[in-house]
Amino acid sequence: MSELSENAINPIKWIDNHGHLQLLDQSKLPQEEKFLYLNTWEEVFSAIRDMKIRGAPAIGVAAGYALALACFQLKQVKEEFDLNRIADIGFSLIQARPTAVNLKWAVERMIAKSRMLIPRKDLAAKLLEEAKSIHLESYESDVKLSEFGADVIPRGSSVLTHCNTGPLATGGFGTALGVIRKAWAQGKIKGVISTETRPWFQGSRLTMWELNKFGIPSTLIVDSMAGYLMSRGEIQCVIVGADRIASNGDVANKIGTFSLAVLAKEHGLPFYVAAPITTIDLDKNNGDEIPIEERLAEEVIIVKGISIGVQESKVLNMAFDITPSKYITSIITDNGVASAPYNKSIKELIIG
Ligand code: MRU
Repeated sequence: MSELSENAINPIKWIDNHGHLQLLDQSKLPQEEKFLYLNTWEEVFSAIRDMKIRGAPAIGVAAGYALALACFQLKQVKEEFDLNRIADIGFSLIQARPTAVNLKWAVERMIAKSRMLIPRKDLAAKLLEEAKSIHLESYESDVKLSEFGADVIPRGSSVLTHCNTGPLATGGFGTALGVIRKAWAQGKIKGVISTETRPWFQGSRLTMWELNKFGIPSTLIVDSMAGYLMSRGEIQCVIVGADRIASNGDVANKIGTFSLAVLAKEHGLPFYVAAPITTIDLDKNNGDEIPIEERLAEEVIIVKGISIGVQESKVLNMAFDITPSKYITSIITDNGVASAPYNKSIKELIIG
């Protein structure tokens, strides 16, 4: 865990002495750096649903700890409990954010681990170890994919990114933002343009906060400005993260990603997706099969408690969209870089 603890931004931390999970409350950033201390899986469920922790890999890590907490809770009531309870709680956790497959992946890994542990004497402690492994592996895969990604970013680029894919959204290093960090460290990029990312402002609140901490030159734009900046030659490539990637390379990511990909193609700019292998869902043949989360109207018309719209408005708030693979130059993973035809290249990355 040494690399994790040395990281400047540590949004998820298991506190051993107290046996609880510490989360940096992302709904309060950047105005307040407030930590939550969670003792039950139900509290972790609420933190994921209410986006106090968010980003596909990060909610997978949090779900791992939630199932370890669930096991400690069940043990307190009855030393020998029905293992199916862990599976039921895992199923509930998956419902908190249905698009990000990393959540489902982490829950399934924890359930599989619980079933393998015979005798069940140290089940809770062993599940906690498994959650810590998921956390560390998530960090390590970010570092690997960031190295692959830094190689493909065109030298001298101003890089546009969308939403938030840095330490806050991941196991602690970053996916698309990890690539940006590595490319910046290698002197390959000029700086970053971050969209504000309506309605939840992951770009203006979180990505700008992280880029500022890393000392990477960055400019914030409203989402609708991207096309005009591309037409003026002020952006050389786009890089985003992913919440789920289908086996044909279609990508589910933050709403607005699809529009950026179409704009990039129109302007002849490379459009990269950076995500760990755990974000690929080979059970989904294409993007149409990926569930898209819809969130509450309030997120669109109320900002920090202030109403900015007509309360009676009918609001459609889809949290993600699908970018068809034909718009994607490459998918950068911890196993290497895939490009079209994705059906073949993605399988090769996973199977080796
Ligand atoms: O709704 P969010 O903030 O959880 O959405 C996050 C994204 O869309 C990210 O781009 C994605 O999870 C990749 S995070 C490394």
